Amino acid sequence: MSGKIGISGALFLFLCLSELFGQKFDSIAMTPPMGWNGWNSFKCRINETVIREVANAMVTNGMMDAGYSYLVIDDCWQTGRDVNGTILADPVRFPSGMKILGDYIHSRGLKFGIYSDAGNSTCRGRPGSRGHELRDAMTYATWGVDYLKYDWCSHGTLDAESSYRLMRDALYKAGRPVVYSICEWGKNEPWQWGKDIGHLWRTTPDIINCFDCRNIWGGMGVLQIIDRMADLGSFAGPGHWNDADMLQVGNGNLTPAEERLHFSMWAMFSSPLIAGNDIRNMSEETLSILTNREVIAIDQDRLGISATRWLKSGDLEIWFKPLDRGEFAFCLINRGSRTITINQNLKTTISNHYTIDDSYVVRDLWKHKIIGNTSEILKGYLCPHDVLLISLTARVY
Ligand code: GLA
Repeated sequence: MSGKIGISGALFLFLCLSELFGQKFDSIAMTPPMGWNGWNSFKCRINETVIREVANAMVTNGMMDAGYSYLVIDDCWQTGRDVNGTILADPVRFPSGMKILGDYIHSRGLKFGIYSDAGNSTCRGRPGSRGHELRDAMTYATWGVDYLKYDWCSHGTLDAESSYRLMRDALYKAGRPVVYSICEWGKNEPWQWGKDIGHLWRTTPDIINCFDCRNIWGGMGVLQIIDRMADLGSFAGPGHWNDADMLQVGNGNLTPAEERLHFSMWAMFSSPLIAGNDIRNMSEETLSILTNREVIAIDQDRLGISATRWLKSGDLEIWFKPLDRGEFAFCLINRGSRTITINQNLKTTISNHYTIDDSYVVRDLWKHKIIGNTSEILKGYLCPHDVLLISLTARVY
């Protein structure tokens, strides 16, 4: 008898093994997920009315058309478990139940995201999924959940990698494709092991609504997160992203310039773009930042290459990101409180790999206009905490 098992035998073996060990759902999140999560603005003050109104706003205000699709309900939606151990939604805040809410979100053309925790309880003391992973995954599947943010509170002595793998396998077994968001705040370097487990992993403790600050829990402002992201780019790519945390755009504490810088840099890192403001009531300016399609295109670029810090000179930093079709983005940021004069030749070779000659058109992605080409020196001023985000595209002679 031949020792060969043949193609169908190999396929059978593969299916058995993946059934045994599980795997992550492939080919979803091939570009960074975009959506909304209420945590940064609502904390626990969410209910089904808010969620329905947010869904309606996403559809009517142009966010859905700009690419935002996941509507994620964060902590505090759950209250306990029934006698069988099935997780229960808060009957006061979510009286219709999660299946009906999920159906509503889907009926608006959006996707439904939910939150749980790898430990016994969530960060706000609600039931976690520890010991209930498969039951929860199956419940989410019956509700039509498309995205799970999985937190790391009350983990005790658990090992992060195996805890996240356990829920990955449970989701896979439940059979409904789910984008799996690892939220363990970068403590156990998830970029080292997360690629085959989740589709995105947080790189930091929680973002704070400030440009340049930290708090005692390790929370970080925009600049601190940028610095953390700086060395992690090589770990991310299509299907597995470094998550710089939910956006603070529109939450009232950053100046418009700081918000543009924040949004630009998240796009440069190909971070998920998860709006974190009350999108039912936001200014035109906030909406125009969140829906700037030219910036979103940098984030969603098919190659998914994260930016590297190309130059640093005092408070001026220039970040560089190669794009599809031989194009490039540069992001100039002013971290300081004085206006900076820009006088920069962009013709260069970067990493011995990317050569920029004088054949590119330079376009300002916030002003939406061409501002020159690479045969010229880039000149101008950068106000405090402001940003100049440009793309370099081939010149047509
Ligand atoms: C942690 C997470 C936050 C949020 C809260 C909810 O702090 O990092 O993003 O989900 O828990 O309690």
